[in-house]
Amino acid sequence: MQLIDDIDKLRALRRDWKQDNETIAFVPTMGNLHNGHLKLVSEASKNASKVVVSIFVNPMQFGPDEDLDAYPKTLEADKNALQALGVDVLFMPKVEDIYSRGLEQQTFVEVPGFSYMICGASRPGHFRGVATIVCKLFNMVQPNKAYFGEKDFQQLQVIKAMVTDLSMNLTIHGVPTEREKDGLAMSSRNVYLTQEQRTLAPMLYQEIKKLGDAILSGRRDFSALISVTKSNLAKAGFKPDYIELRSAETLMQVGHEDKQLVILAAAFLGKTRLIDNLQLQI
Ligand code: PAJ
Repeated sequence: MQLIDDIDKLRALRRDWKQDNETIAFVPTMGNLHNGHLKLVSEASKNASKVVVSIFVNPMQFGPDEDLDAYPKTLEADKNALQALGVDVLFMPKVEDIYSRGLEQQTFVEVPGFSYMICGASRPGHFRGVATIVCKLFNMVQPNKAYFGEKDFQQLQVIKAMVTDLSMNLTIHGVPTEREKDGLAMSSRNVYLTQEQRTLAPMLYQEIKKLGDAILSGRRDFSALISVTKSNLAKAGFKPDYIELRSAETLMQVGHEDKQLVILAAAFLGKTRLIDNLQLQI
């Protein structure tokens, strides 16, 4: 596995690969890799001749009160895990090269249709930061395909919309959420949980599954059901941020004609914000 932090070096390698007609799959990450990330990498390896993974903790997508400085870093373990999976390049660009004109001066990519609602409403500017860095990384890596987790369902929709709207020449693949044995969605932020919070955490997924089961059984009193989910979580010690039932395609409120739905949830345990989702076909 080659470790590359220099953008020009990456571009040179990319030119060689192009001459050799290689198919390039790309997995962007912020590091502190767990089996969810590694599943994306395995999918990428199955479907391409070269795999590039990036680790870049992107300051533009963090709010002023968020965990940018505390974001967990486990670079040695990350390298070993990627090497073991046969990754060709680990790309770790430097902040000063990525944002050479400073964050404030930066041209950005905005995907309004998907960015201001739900998670975007709770985290202003977050999806602008995500779309901008992913666009920049795509310009550097120039992959044929890129892999994203369904764990971040809204992020996946933002990226798909950006690729379509800006006529980018690659395909985006979503990979189902990897979970711990007790159902908790794997996340780099789970390390922030105390032992007590970690025991409670799987309840988020249990509650959205209960909500999903009620909908699948024919209940259509969505707001009453969502209120029960919120109050169950609050009683157990969560601070629910949002529980939303939306069209899985548009992320808009559910209309009569919608058959593919998604429950999107975010809740705090202490200072740690957990997110999860469940897709439903009714
Ligand atoms: P990060 O949180 O490191 O996640 C990198 C990728 O792994 C994302 O596509 C995310 O959806 C996926 N992922 C995380 N947990 C997962 C799980 N339990 N199962 C399956 N996939 C999972 O998401 C980001 O980084 C950043 O926003 C990024 C796209 C890299 C842009 O900075």
